[in-house]
Amino acid sequence: MTATDIHPLRRHLRQQLHAGRQWTFTLLDPLDDEEMARQPHRIMSPLVWDLGHIGNFEELWLLRGLGDHSLSDQRLDTVYNPFDNPRWTRADLPLLPRREATEYIAEVRGRALDLMADADLVDGDPLVRDGFVYHMVAQHEAQHQETMLQALDLRGETHGDDAEELADADDPRLRIYLPATRRVLRSARQVDDLQTVVVPAGPFALGAPDPADLAPSAPRAARDAAVAAYDNERPRRTVSVPGFAIDVFPVTARRFAAFVADHGYRNPDWWSERGREWLKTEGHTAPQGWYQTADGEWAIRRFNRVSALDPRELVEHVTFWEAEAFAAWAGGRLPTEVEWEKAAAHDPATGSSRPYPWGDVAPTPDLANIDRTLWGPSLVGSYPDGASAYGVEHLLGDSYEWTSSDFEPYPGYRTFPYPEYSEVFFGGDWKVLRGASWATRASVARSTFRNWDHPYRRQIFSGVRVAYDLRDGRPVRPQVR
Ligand code: AVJ
Ligand code: FE
Repeated sequence: MTATDIHPLRRHLRQQLHAGRQWTFTLLDPLDDEEMARQPHRIMSPLVWDLGHIGNFEELWLLRGLGDHSLSDQRLDTVYNPFDNPRWTRADLPLLPRREATEYIAEVRGRALDLMADADLVDGDPLVRDGFVYHMVAQHEAQHQETMLQALDLRGETHGDDAEELADADDPRLRIYLPATRRVLRSARQVDDLQTVVVPAGPFALGAPDPADLAPSAPRAARDAAVAAYDNERPRRTVSVPGFAIDVFPVTARRFAAFVADHGYRNPDWWSERGREWLKTEGHTAPQGWYQTADGEWAIRRFNRVSALDPRELVEHVTFWEAEAFAAWAGGRLPTEVEWEKAAAHDPATGSSRPYPWGDVAPTPDLANIDRTLWGPSLVGSYPDGASAYGVEHLLGDSYEWTSSDFEPYPGYRTFPYPEYSEVFFGGDWKVLRGASWATRASVARSTFRNWDHPYRRQIFSGVRVAYDLRDGRPVRPQVR
């Protein structure tokens, strides 16, 4: 980067941070103080905790990282430390009330912007070089917006797949988010949801490039993806991937309902041992939010609105084990995260990897279902322009997709800037999810992004895409369903 690019970069970062903060408030504004302070569900934090934590994170890693220690308040560092306080204990902590939290995060942000004015974004400390730490705090806030959305989605839900619970959805105060009628995009087209593509064997560049290796002429969105990438997405390396096939589309409600109707949740053949244990303990019989009405039709409840389940909509809210069982039933398996990234990023025509499946322009609502445009997954085939070079669709947006991979460091991994984002999670009981969800902000959506969660979690916006081994260049697919 040259010194003349510096002013546009500052403006760009400031604008991103500002838009992200606005997004936090559009999400929280409809809630009253009581709703902000209470624990929304047994596995989720009170929203007012996320709010204060967003500021405390920015204070810890940006302000103090750049030498501004003036706010340091040990009490705040303690209550907003996610490792010391499990989610279900947070409502009892001495949290900043909503108003004070709002003032605190504004104070921190003001100082963060002041520091930006003095920071050397060209040759400075790696923390600020190319604006890294500003991308980092923007992404952190965005990821907590997703967590808050998971909590808001679950309000009023108690447990299980009991149709009785539908009654709770009558409470109008819980129904403020989702529009009453779902939007169907004009780009939605009729597609065969069983289509697959073959990704032939061969090498590709996995992971995020070092920004220093980008051509000076690289488009802003390519630079943003390279700079914003987390330590766990690095270093980039060439990986040779055996040939495989993968579904063009994530699994639709139509396919998943067929799995349920085929007694998929009761047939132990499809489930791993831990999956079977989970089934026995939880007793689930369908994805989160699915309810079968008396006449056998499926309804879906999200954000406390109940509507008929459209067979074309993409599945969300399944655990790793449900995803794994579905894939087995469908005659395939989950992709590895490396396969996923190759299908998303590799361009066989140029031999290079794309920062976004469609190329090197930033995600927008016509390329991917992100940024809460639809408040839920879209109908299959709604984003033809978002296809990857292999023709795989819906890779970013709609639902994160479970992979078969454990969350581990790439060879040559180096912790940056702090171990608590990635390093402390390596080797734990986590499975990698790839892609982005309808709730993800553009600042987090890129081909190399690695998400992870416990295999038993499904309040996250998680879906499934099926992959297949090849024999003689064709998918081995004993069951096509
Ligand atoms: C990457 C989504 C697993 O929510 O635990 C938020 C993101 N890290 N604050 C999480 C995160 C620190 C993280 N995930
Ligand atoms: Fe956090």
